[in-house]
Amino acid sequence: MQDDSDLPPALPPSPDEADEPREGRRTVFAALGAAAGLAGLTAGCAAPPLSAASSPALPNAPAPRGRLEGQSVLVTGAARGIGRAICLAAAREGADVLGFDIAGPASRHVGSPPSTPGDLAETERLVQSLGRRFLSVQGDVRSRPALARAVDQAVGAFGKLDGVVANAGIMVPEGIAEVSDEGWRDVLDVNLTGTANTFRAAIPAMAARRRGRMVAIASVLGRMGAPISPQYNASKWGVIGLVKSAALELGGRGITVNAVSPTGVNTALLRNARQYAAVTPRAVPGRVPESVAAAASRALHPLGVPWVEPEDVAAMVMFLLSEEARYVSGASFDVTAGLGGIYTA
Ligand SMILES: NC(=O)c1ccc[n+]([C@@H]2O[C@H](COP(=O)([O-])OP(=O)(O)OC[C@H]3O[C@@H](n4cnc5c(N)ncnc54)[C@H](O)[C@@H]3O)[C@@H](O)[C@H]2O)c1
Repeated sequence: MQDDSDLPPALPPSPDEADEPREGRRTVFAALGAAAGLAGLTAGCAAPPLSAASSPALPNAPAPRGRLEGQSVLVTGAARGIGRAICLAAAREGADVLGFDIAGPASRHVGSPPSTPGDLAETERLVQSLGRRFLSVQGDVRSRPALARAVDQAVGAFGKLDGVVANAGIMVPEGIAEVSDEGWRDVLDVNLTGTANTFRAAIPAMAARRRGRMVAIASVLGRMGAPISPQYNASKWGVIGLVKSAALELGGRGITVNAVSPTGVNTALLRNARQYAAVTPRAVPGRVPESVAAAASRALHPLGVPWVEPEDVAAMVMFLLSEEARYVSGASFDVTAGLGGIYTA
């Protein structure tokens, strides 16, 4: 796994979350683990790691290579959150990265503060500190010409484009009875049309080499209903439909297309007051403390966490970008801490 020092800083725990007794959490984990029949599996994990002395390097062994060595990847929504984690994971796997982000307000209806040029610059700094090249492009995924120019830049600088990750997205946490026309449109335009724009921009460069990997970040809310944000759900169901259709169309050109569908992820999109109010039963009056929203969310997840980390999503994306996934296409892969068990196959 990754060295903690390389990880983007996690959002700080809220005061009420920080107070939560650790022992209590362990008990819940233990109970869930036992209930899920995991005891036998985890027992093996308790073995001490092999020491350098007991596992000497093979003489003349080649240096370990990343799964994306020599490749290049374009990632949208790269300034922070899941996009930044994907950029860093790709760099660790050996890829050069073009990070594309609006780095500013995408809609006045979202619950989280906008990302900034400073956030995108920090992603650049972190990727470069891993010894990989990073091209930083400020742009809006609603503009297909802007994405086409970004693809040209990546091909110009890196020589080719191996993978594209359509990650940029927004959440407007308002019900169908209350959402404005503009709020509805913003979500569909960024999440669904923005994903299509990203894929469409990458097709020529990938088809020319008869090789490419496309990954979209959908959501668990693209696989089930939820009374939180119908525009968000509709956009993510649409993303999965787009992925499946594009996989059928583009397979003949050597391009795989897949989606990753996470549950709540520890990012600004999720951890904000409007989101907490939207996901917590209306019986809770007034401002919803993070601890209340987190407890409600934890209760939904068989693995006992309120949300997963951006790196958990990035790990799945790395598999889909890699050669290991050469025959994996047209599918959506859950990272849901078990919540995905509630919907049909
Ligand atoms: N955080 C979650 O709980 C969660 C769960 C499931 C899926 N997702 C999806 O993961 C993706 C990343 O979300 P995140 O949690 O990292 O959110 P985030 O808000 O932390 O980051 C999203 C990034 O996308 C950028 N962006 C937004 N609109 C853009 C546009 N029009 N053009 C270019 N860039 C734009 C933002 O500036 C920001 O840097 C989104 O598609 C989101 O829907 C998130």
